[in-house]
Amino acid sequence: MNIAVIGTGYVGLVTGAGLADFGNDVVCVDIAVHKIEALNRGEIPIYEPGLDKIVSRNAAEGRLHFSTDLPEAIRSSRAIFIAVGTPPKPDGSADLRYVEDVARTIAKYMDGPKLVITKSTVPIGTGRLIEKIIIDAGHEHKASIVSNPEFLREGSAIEDFMKPDRVVIGASDDEAVQLMKEIYAPLHSLEIPFVVTNVESAELIKYAANGFLATKISFINEIAVLCERLGGDVQDVARGIGLDSRIGSKFLQAGPGFGGSCFPKDTSAVADIARRYEYEFQIIEAVLRVNDDIKQRMIGKVAGAVGGDVKGKTIAMLGLAFKPETDDMRDSPTIPLIRGLQALGATIRAYDPEAMENSKAIFEDVTYCEDAYKTAEGADALVLATEWNEFRALNFSRIRKALRQPVIVDLRNVYDPQRMKAEGFTYVSVGRSNEARKRGV
Ligand code: UDX
Repeated sequence: MNIAVIGTGYVGLVTGAGLADFGNDVVCVDIAVHKIEALNRGEIPIYEPGLDKIVSRNAAEGRLHFSTDLPEAIRSSRAIFIAVGTPPKPDGSADLRYVEDVARTIAKYMDGPKLVITKSTVPIGTGRLIEKIIIDAGHEHKASIVSNPEFLREGSAIEDFMKPDRVVIGASDDEAVQLMKEIYAPLHSLEIPFVVTNVESAELIKYAANGFLATKISFINEIAVLCERLGGDVQDVARGIGLDSRIGSKFLQAGPGFGGSCFPKDTSAVADIARRYEYEFQIIEAVLRVNDDIKQRMIGKVAGAVGGDVKGKTIAMLGLAFKPETDDMRDSPTIPLIRGLQALGATIRAYDPEAMENSKAIFEDVTYCEDAYKTAEGADALVLATEWNEFRALNFSRIRKALRQPVIVDLRNVYDPQRMKAEGFTYVSVGRSNEARKRGV
């Protein structure tokens, strides 16, 4: 099928490349000329493992194109995916300006029946809003509105696209559902479940999924606080509850709080949507408060590890991105952590395998280093903030020699407390107060 994907950000690019790989003929459109020029030269603007290969393969085979010509893309496509940004406004609600602009442009240039699919995470009711914009333009042709939310994780987006747990299709007519099944034909034949529902339910599924996952994280982070106070081990508690199949073991990793482009934005957006419908979504409001609180607590954790006062101390940060396998710094827990430590008088040295460029736009007053060992040089504590694989197997005697004081603060519970002790470190992690005890597996 001929498809236009509007917006070549993270979601748009992965969607466009993935749909082309499914055998569709895809044009990815963006108003940013430099982005399209770069993509046409084979340069990928974001770091996402495997994306470059699938883009180059499909471009070479003639199924994937990049263009700035939106009217032509609208005319030549049967299905139009809207994947433009929906940034948060100061009050937490999603800014729909770009989605509305695209809807008006579709209304202006459509020359036949179109399937208009929202891929961006949009507030409930946006599908209807797009429909109204197009109907109000008084067209002879029909636009069928579909909500097809994405559940892509940064760092494993290609795998998530190619082998999703489910495909959600919110539509108001059978033809639209049929066309969506054609677009996703390879997944249909892999027997991936398709959840077919109305537009509003599909829009809510996206928010409910992210809200629920964020709830699991804030929940386990509060259990970690209790573990520290009561003498428990959060890893054991997570395993102990996660083996109950009704709970499930995923998303129970305690840490410095959730970040990224989705969870913070979507949880505050769903709280805002609820408020607009005169309901206070109490659980989500609490999840957000807990997350802010957990991020702040990490400052005290680092300060505590160096004797309570970081003034005049040097802190070495391993990892800056909000999670591994991405260069994304959006809402990274390292932002309030670094700012907080600097405000208390600490000097920060840092290294991240991919996120240093993006970090430089946020922090100028950080010394960026070329690897973990250089970062540790002369520091009073080493903080593991993002669990990149290359930090899992460090040479700890080199690290100890490089540090001024042998202190490790592990915000991701990656290292074995006993081993750290044996290596001569003062070791602090999250929710593992009982760290001397050997854990049974
Ligand atoms: C998330 C959703 O998983 C995805 O389905 C959605 O489409 C977009 O948002 P992403 O933001 O890429 O994906 O990352 P994810 O792996 O879900 O992690 C989000 C944050 O939660 C990270 O900061 C991560 O460190 C944190 N997290 C995750 C935890 O602290 N503990 C966990 O157990 C899992």
